[in-house]
Amino acid sequence: MRIVRTIREVRETLAPRRATGESIGLVPTMGALHAGHRSLLDAARRENDFVVMSLFVNPAQFDEQADLAAYPRDEDADARAAEEAGVDVVFAPPPEEIYPPGFQTWVEVEEEARGGEGASRPGHFRGVATICLKLFTIVRPTRAYLGRKDAQQAAVIARLVRDLDLEVELRVLPIVRDRDGLALSSRNARLSPGERRRALALPRALQEARGAADPVATARAALNGLDPEYVELRRLGDATVLAAAIRVGSIRLIDNVLLEGELA
Ligand code: PAJ
Repeated sequence: MRIVRTIREVRETLAPRRATGESIGLVPTMGALHAGHRSLLDAARRENDFVVMSLFVNPAQFDEQADLAAYPRDEDADARAAEEAGVDVVFAPPPEEIYPPGFQTWVEVEEEARGGEGASRPGHFRGVATICLKLFTIVRPTRAYLGRKDAQQAAVIARLVRDLDLEVELRVLPIVRDRDGLALSSRNARLSPGERRRALALPRALQEARGAADPVATARAALNGLDPEYVELRRLGDATVLAAAIRVGSIRLIDNVLLEGELA
């Protein structure tokens, strides 16, 4: 496995692969890898000849500087996990490789970015869409792998791909959860034991709301006391998910369940 830091190295490494018609799978990540990321890496490994994982804590998608500063970073551990998953190349650029001085071009996906995470985190999806477009043009993957954990993000990126006619097949994979039902997230490590117990109300409420006549009202009632930032229905391709965000102490958690339809 190679770790590369520059766009030029990525292109030089991939050009001979592309020339012989190999398929390339891309898994975009911000590191702090867990079993959720691993499920994406495993799918990419199964379905492609060559696998690239990007490892970049994208400053442009953090609306709070404190959140960016607190984001867990352990490149050695992530490189080991990537290697174990059979990744061929890790692209881990420094911020100035992606946003050099003078950078001023941003991608704005309008409707899909409204509400939900977009309302809670101004500028977040502009940062996500811009980094994903850049990664897609740098790596030019055959397929890119996303988790349904970030359902609105997947919807935003799907819209970006359609609107800009990008030649990449998006694969959106199910949410990987801990045994107690909490969706895996790099933020979970920052929950105290008591906070973690309270956080379990989120997956339970969403689960309870599945099949209810009014899923939003049912989930809201079940989250009683946790004061959710939002509970909403969101379309993701042909599927509908019930998505919610809560704050437990200083930690913000998101989760969703599939109400109907299936994902690509
Ligand atoms: P990050 O939070 O590192 O997540 C990388 C990918 O892993 C995302 O597609 C996310 O949905 C998926 N993922 C996270 N937790 C998961 C879980 N429990 N089960 C399944 N998949 C899970 O999302 C980002 O990074 C960034 O916004 C990125 C797309 C890399 C752009 O910077």
